[in-house]
Amino acid sequence: MSHEFTATLTTNSGAAPIQADPSADPVRFEGDAMVLFLCPGGVSGAAAEVDRATGGLISRLIDAGELTGKRYECVPLLAPPGLACGQLLVIGTGSADEVDAGLLYRAAAVAARQLSSRPRSRVGFLAEGRWTNEQLEQAVAGAAVGMVGQDLYRAEKKQHPFATTIWLEAAVEVVGRGALIADGVNLARRLVNLPPDDLYPETFAEEAATIAGRAGLEIEIWDQARLERENCRALLAVARGSTRSPRLVLLHYRGLRGSGQPGGPPDLALVGKGVTFDSGGLSLKPSDGMLTMKCDMSGAAAALGAIATIAALKLPVHVVAAVGLVENMNGSAAYKLGDVVTARSGVTIEIHNTDAEGRVVLADVLDVVADLQPRRIVDTATLTGACMVALGRDIAGVFTNDQACCDAVTAAAEAVGERVWQLPMDRDFDEQIESPVADIKNVGDGRLGGAITAAKLLERFVRGIPWTHIDIAGPAFADKPRPWIAGGGTGSMVRPFVELARRTGHAKA
Ligand code: BES
Ligand code: MN
Ligand code: ZN
Repeated sequence: MSHEFTATLTTNSGAAPIQADPSADPVRFEGDAMVLFLCPGGVSGAAAEVDRATGGLISRLIDAGELTGKRYECVPLLAPPGLACGQLLVIGTGSADEVDAGLLYRAAAVAARQLSSRPRSRVGFLAEGRWTNEQLEQAVAGAAVGMVGQDLYRAEKKQHPFATTIWLEAAVEVVGRGALIADGVNLARRLVNLPPDDLYPETFAEEAATIAGRAGLEIEIWDQARLERENCRALLAVARGSTRSPRLVLLHYRGLRGSGQPGGPPDLALVGKGVTFDSGGLSLKPSDGMLTMKCDMSGAAAALGAIATIAALKLPVHVVAAVGLVENMNGSAAYKLGDVVTARSGVTIEIHNTDAEGRVVLADVLDVVADLQPRRIVDTATLTGACMVALGRDIAGVFTNDQACCDAVTAAAEAVGERVWQLPMDRDFDEQIESPVADIKNVGDGRLGGAITAAKLLERFVRGIPWTHIDIAGPAFADKPRPWIAGGGTGSMVRPFVELARRTGHAKA
């Protein structure tokens, strides 16, 4: 008996069903392809079963050195003898003791991405009995992310999501959860990949409303007039240079056990930077630096993708997501260098660089969220190039005012295989954002430690609530395709946020 899950959050044209078949016989699996996960050092588990059916083909190829099982090695065996599938795709996972959920997410994605280069109707993935549920879940998610490309605006698609994916020898509930996680990731990726003239504050808010309807979330959309009434003058200042009107979107998911009472404070607030295009404003970016700045709403996309998945998983937590949506442009009404803006909290910010806009927007969003008194605030933002200088493309920087909160975020991220690294928040950096004329200025002194001075500004707006900031300037967007993901938005922080909400729910239960 097989069970089917179809993506419901995304509006990807390729949304395709994912099935679980716990009692499948891989030898008899009929389909275009079957994916086999292989570790170095001989066949065991599912691989041994397949090896026997093929009359020892796998072990012969291992002996000949054609198959090694090393990490992400991907070898197609066409028309394998003794099997009913058209092709056996062997994907290496590296040594068994180093296999974890993050590795399986990427390995499954590599295999799916490779197979999706042509249309396929049925693709099977053979789960390993020794995997934990968490590992299987991430493998399922990885396969469903890997098969979706960056093809929204291309007549000839480079990737073709499988008509049907079947997870063999896999538990139904786990496969269902993996499919929902992939849904949130693919939603975030799609929003990031939309060009800035298609996705701007108003249309992002419309997307959020559509998702809220599907996922059963409460939604509040603040338009220009509401933002003015709420004194969100920092966010509004950034928006002024654009013809696109800004929005602030608040989403509530009240899981069953949420803080005991339905009206209680949120357990977790997810905050995202939603700059739908960052030209730099009057501190205009050079052309090269501006090219990928549609990605500057990746934090907002992550918060939305995550809360949608959290709701779909029916996790027993009360989560709120808040995103500040603006376009940073240099129109004639643009905010200027030397301007002093009064943030919603009353703190005045002197503008020294209009390209340091993310922190100015988040100042107001964090203040709105602090009103709700959540137990924890976690924000994510493509905030600084300096964070990429420090940590490279694949590792996010984390910053906190509360070590326990940060440890929880870090543990959740590592559990799903997204790399984060904590950077210091020494008091000295506060001196760098002192302003000669206002309470603070929006940049530090010079470029050094720029990721930290940005975090230091955010810290001023969380009112001492346990808070962690995640700078995803590096990991949010892949300039070039990687073996496990097409170029473009990566869906960074969706899986860590979902995992964090799950752990928050467990801790209470
Ligand atoms: N959105 C950028 C940061 C960014 C850079 C994200 C590269 C992804 C890739 C942010 O708004 C920005 O421009 N930051 C400035 C800050 C500086 C002016 C203090 C930067 O990093 O250069
Ligand atoms: Mn900027
Ligand atoms: Zn920016």
